[in-house]
Amino acid sequence: MPLVIAIDGPAASGKGTLAKRLADHYGLPHLDTGLLYRAVALALLDAGLSLDDREAAARAAEALDPEKLDDPRLRERAMGEAASRVSAVPEVRAGLLLWQRRFAADPQGAVLDGRDIGTVVCPEAEVKLFITASSEERARRRHRELAGRGETASFAAILADIEARDARDAGRAAAPLRMAGDAVRLDTTELDADAAFDEARGIVERTRGSAR
Ligand code: CDP
Ligand code: CDP
Repeated sequence: MPLVIAIDGPAASGKGTLAKRLADHYGLPHLDTGLLYRAVALALLDAGLSLDDREAAARAAEALDPEKLDDPRLRERAMGEAASRVSAVPEVRAGLLLWQRRFAADPQGAVLDGRDIGTVVCPEAEVKLFITASSEERARRRHRELAGRGETASFAAILADIEARDARDAGRAAAPLRMAGDAVRLDTTELDADAAFDEARGIVERTRGSAR
């Protein structure tokens, strides 16, 4: 059976870094599903439309070209917040679901990271990880990351941003952020990216070993 690894968690928990490392290690394609929601938000903003225009958001999700996810603006801080707003619209989620499932059905297997991979997109994934870290540590990471890219924002503003996004993502009705019952939780507050990768690889090996 092709190995599918589903990775979920809140902003700056380290899920993207981990997903990339696991994908490299196992030779699997990787999809950062947050980029899809960011691209829907960017399409609305580029067209001069409101992020609260649900019909336009649904159309943008339908029309999204997943091959065009390399716009550097997608990684900006404001786009995470904008993505969180459009991602609460059920039609947007439905419009992106099929494409994500097709990606996950690659005969080679796949690694996907996001908020609802283990619960909605790939409920049958062989390995499910739920990555967490304290909100202070996540804000420190984002602060460092943004400073490295020349985006200036205070630590306090980033922390407030992260806590507001956690509340919105976990509180929405459509596919809220929550851990799948059969996921393994990995708290990376005290782990750097190397240590988190080692732990995760151990979990993957144990899960696969026990399934055989
Ligand atoms: O990297 P970071 O965790 O800051 O954000 P992201 O993964 O790019 O996701 C941006 C926003 O998209 C999140 O706050 C979620 O609201 C939404 N999202 C989602 O609803 N479902 C996913 N599978 C991935 C992202
Ligand atoms: O994808 P997500 O938003 O969950 O987080 P990320 O983009 O993987 O990580 C956010 C930042 O924290 C990056 O700059 C990573 O290098 C860093 N990081 C870390 O300091 N310690 C970890 N265990 C994982 C990531």
